[in-house]
Amino acid sequence: MYVSSALRRMLSGLLLCSLRVAATQELRYPPNRIAVIGAGIGGTSAAYFLRQKFGKDIHIDVFEKDNVGGRLATIEMEGNHYEAGGSVIHPLNLHMKTFVKDLGLNARTPSGDLLGIYNGDEFVFQESEWFLINIIKMIWNYGLNFLRMYMWVEDILDKFMRIYRYQTFDYSFSTTESLLHAMGGDDFISKLNMTIDEAMQKSGFTQRFIDDIVVPAMRVNYGQGVKINGFVGAVSLAGTDSGLWAVAGGNKLVCSGLLYASKAQLIQGTVTSVQEKFRSTKPGNTVKLYEIGYVTDRGPGLDLYDIVIIATPLNKNLGNIEFVGFEPPIETSSGPYQQTVATFVHGRINASFFGCSKPCQFPLSEILTTDSPKLFIRSISAVSPVNPVPESDTSKASGLRVWKIFSPDVLTDQQLRQLFESYHAVKVRNWLAYPRYSPPEKIPPIKLHRAIYYLNSIEWAASAMEMSAIAAKNVALLSYHQWYGKDEHIDQEDLADRLKSEL
Ligand SMILES: Cc1cc2nc3c(=O)[nH]c(=O)nc-3n(C[C@H](O)[C@H](O)[C@H](O)COP(=O)(O)OP(=O)(O)OC[C@H]3O[C@@H](n4cnc5c(N)ncnc54)[C@H](O)[C@@H]3O)c2cc1C
Ligand SMILES: *[C@@H]1O[C@H](CO)[C@@H](O)[C@H](O)[C@H]1NC(C)=O
Ligand SMILES: *[C@@H]1O[C@H](CO)[C@@H](O)[C@H](O)[C@H]1NC(C)=O
Repeated sequence: MYVSSALRRMLSGLLLCSLRVAATQELRYPPNRIAVIGAGIGGTSAAYFLRQKFGKDIHIDVFEKDNVGGRLATIEMEGNHYEAGGSVIHPLNLHMKTFVKDLGLNARTPSGDLLGIYNGDEFVFQESEWFLINIIKMIWNYGLNFLRMYMWVEDILDKFMRIYRYQTFDYSFSTTESLLHAMGGDDFISKLNMTIDEAMQKSGFTQRFIDDIVVPAMRVNYGQGVKINGFVGAVSLAGTDSGLWAVAGGNKLVCSGLLYASKAQLIQGTVTSVQEKFRSTKPGNTVKLYEIGYVTDRGPGLDLYDIVIIATPLNKNLGNIEFVGFEPPIETSSGPYQQTVATFVHGRINASFFGCSKPCQFPLSEILTTDSPKLFIRSISAVSPVNPVPESDTSKASGLRVWKIFSPDVLTDQQLRQLFESYHAVKVRNWLAYPRYSPPEKIPPIKLHRAIYYLNSIEWAASAMEMSAIAAKNVALLSYHQWYGKDEHIDQEDLADRLKSEL
């Protein structure tokens, strides 16, 4: 009797013990199915990296309600296609570079245009064709501010580049803050808490330089002034570097290429809800899954997944997804997105609108603007098609070109007639383009639930193609390490020093 009850106690102890082991290792069977919501550069690169990380057997579905590419899109005008959304890529954006190479695509470099900065009355800055004249003008007007800006951005880029090394060595981060901290320490994090204006003043830039040169760069890249956070401001300034490029045929080709290479299944439909479900496999054993509700042309559908990656802004107007029955509730209302209208016009620009009286030499093909209430545009620049066609000399001589205008609102006919001497074709694309930044920035979490990840958290630090790709690789690594309990590859401190010795 005694012996057998002791034995029983021992046995049940053993059983409990093994159950506890099972509980901590609960998630360590391989996941079967992953859902990615959104087929922009974030979602498609996530699918690509998830395939690399989880291997060939896992099933990946990518949901897209609209077009593959998302904010990477072209617009067609008179038989040619032009970038209407995300257009230029920095030469040190290594993920984008690698995608283009691995997918067998080609880069194209937009032609070097002469730039002017207009304040509503006159040009505060105007590039000439002569390099030396440009340098003299820069120093005459702004002292060493240009050189200092170059070094300032260089220093930030240097730190930014560390992320590629971390990711190569399989390290991931559970929050956008810890990812930024690993790159640039407290210096990067504190940039989220101040405006680019404050950040640059602190570094000794003159107010004149900030108003004349920095504001226009923020306006063209992010449709906002220098009240945006210092990190996105620095990313925006890197966008003034030389060597910017784009993808021949259109940047969106990267998205369709990644999707194809990932062997994921594209489900053309709108995801409406995510809900947690428990399924018992055998008696006493339940697995936790997520049920995704969606609507396609053929009606509503439901599917179960182990891991869910959200690759769209969670915003009522963008990725309107309901998280059903989560306790505590999943907080999804991110801040507002900034409207930017891209207008394409084939016509002759009205040089006198920009204060150039006739007959007038107007060599500029890119005009940025300062923050002036007089102006209804943020920028206007001549653009070339994504598939380069030789520009005919006659059209150049006649001044007839395709211009891309960014403005906060849709332009009226009257405004177009002011901007152009004559025009014969107009195309408009209205975007909720990027977050409306307002430091101190509240960055949404990456991990929304046990195995739900939010890629677009990173946009609140800075929105750009490469940022989405970095976030995608991070989420692929993070979801893998969390699934298999590899904590030593999550949120590690001092990686910069620790990886120095590794080759
Ligand atoms: C005018 C403009 C100019 C820009 N210029 C540049 C630039 O020069 N360089 C640069 O690097 N970046 C630029 N950007 C920013 C860049 O385009 C974005 O940061 C990037 O494309 C974001 O990609 P994403 O995949 O994260 O999001 P998105 O491209 O927005 O992808 C999200 C996708 O999810 C889909 N979706 C949403 N909700 C659902 C749902 N419920 N169910 C199914 N599908 C859903 C959407 O249809 C969309 O296709 C620019 C953006 C704009 C608008
Ligand atoms: C940034 O601001 C937030 C909230 O305003 C605060 O909690 C945080 O400590 C600040 N961080 C830094 C590095 O200043
Ligand atoms: C061009 O701009 C000038 C100055 O703003 C304006 O008076 C004129 O009406 C505009 N349109 C044309 C077609 O010249």
